[in-house]
Amino acid sequence: MTAGIASVGCYTPPRRVSNDELSKILDTSDEWIRSHTGICNRHIASDEETCSYMATQAARIAMENAKISSKELDFIIVATISPDYRDFPATANLVQKELGVGNICSFDIKAACTGFTYGLALGRSLILSGAVATGLVIGAEKLSAIIDWNNRNTAVLFGDGAGAAILRSGTEGEDIVDSIMRTDGNGADALYMPTGGTSTPFKLGETTESELYLTMDGHRVYDFAVKVNVEVVRELMIRNSLASTDIDYIVPHQANYRIILAASKRANIPLEKYYLNMDEYANTSSASIPIALAEMDSRGLLKKGMKIITVGFGSGLTYGGNYIIW
Ligand code: ACO
Repeated sequence: MTAGIASVGCYTPPRRVSNDELSKILDTSDEWIRSHTGICNRHIASDEETCSYMATQAARIAMENAKISSKELDFIIVATISPDYRDFPATANLVQKELGVGNICSFDIKAACTGFTYGLALGRSLILSGAVATGLVIGAEKLSAIIDWNNRNTAVLFGDGAGAAILRSGTEGEDIVDSIMRTDGNGADALYMPTGGTSTPFKLGETTESELYLTMDGHRVYDFAVKVNVEVVRELMIRNSLASTDIDYIVPHQANYRIILAASKRANIPLEKYYLNMDEYANTSSASIPIALAEMDSRGLLKKGMKIITVGFGSGLTYGGNYIIW
C-alpha cells in the first residue's frame, strides 16, 4: 500500500507588507532584512482572515485540484502554533465545520515550523495502517498575531498564510516513501511563548507586554537549523539510496536564506535544488512548506515521478522531513 500527495493548494492574505513599509514603524531597513534573511515581503492577515479561515481556503483549493469532494475525506490534520483559540477547540475542528464534512477525525499538531512535515508523516501512517484512505494535511499560521510588532529582532521575520495537501491511499505512483520526526527538547527555551500556558499564566498587572509574544534566541535557532537541515536530508538520502543528482527538489522550511545557503554548502548539494520563496512570504512556520509546494505546482514545476525531499525545523526544537515521489 502507498500513501501519496494527490494535490496541494494554498492561501496567502492579499495584504503584502514590504521591508520598506516595516522600516517606517521599526528601526530597521530593507538592506538589513534582505542581507540577513533573504526576506523582501510578507503577507499579513486581516482580522477576518483567521487561522481556520486561511486553512479552509487552502483546503478547498487542494480538494478542487484533486477533484475530491468533502464526503471522501476521512481525516483533517492542521499543523499550527497560532490557532484560532489558544488551547481548544482545535483549529482542525473549525475547518471540519467550515468544509461541511461528516464527523471525521480532526485534530491539531503543535510542532511549530516542523508541523507540516510531522503532519505528512502522521497522515501517511494513518493511511498505511489501513484505517483511513483520504485526508487533509494543512499547515496554517497567523503569526502576525503572536509577534511583538515593536521588536525588530522578530517582527521582520514572519508572515501569515496556509497550505494544504490531500493525502490518498493507493495513488498512481505518488508516494510519501519515508519520513523523519525528531525533537531535541533541550532547546525548548530557544524559541517559545513565555506566557499564557499553565506554567506561566497571564496575570493582569504583572505580565509585561513583551512576555505575551514569541521569544527567540536567533543564534541558537540558526545553528540548530543548519545542523538538522543537513542531518535530515543526508539521512533520507542514505536510507533511500539517493544521490544528490537523483533529487529534483529539496523544499525546506522557509526561515532564512542564509540557513539554506549554509546547509547546501555543508551537505554539498547545489543551492539550485532548494526551492526558496521566503523573499515573498517570509517565515510562515508550518505553512511555509505547503505554500512552497503549492506555488511550485501552480508554476508547473512539479512533474509526476519527481523525487522531492521536504525538511522542517523549528521550536521544540523539532525537526524532520519526508522523501516524496510526486
Ligand atoms: N533590523 C536592523 N537591525 C537588526 C534587526 C533588524 N530587523 N534585527 C536585529 N538587528 C541588529 C541587532 O540588534 C544587532 O545589533 P548590535 O550588533 O548593535 O547588537 C545586529 O543587528 C546583529 O544581530 P544578530 O542577531 O547577530 O543578527 P544575525 O546575523 O544573527 O541575524 C537572525 C539575526 C536573522 C534572527 C538570525 O539569527 C536567524 O535567522 N536565526 C534563525 C531564526 C529562525 O530561523 N527562526 C525561526 C525558526 S522557525 C520557527 O519555529 C518559528
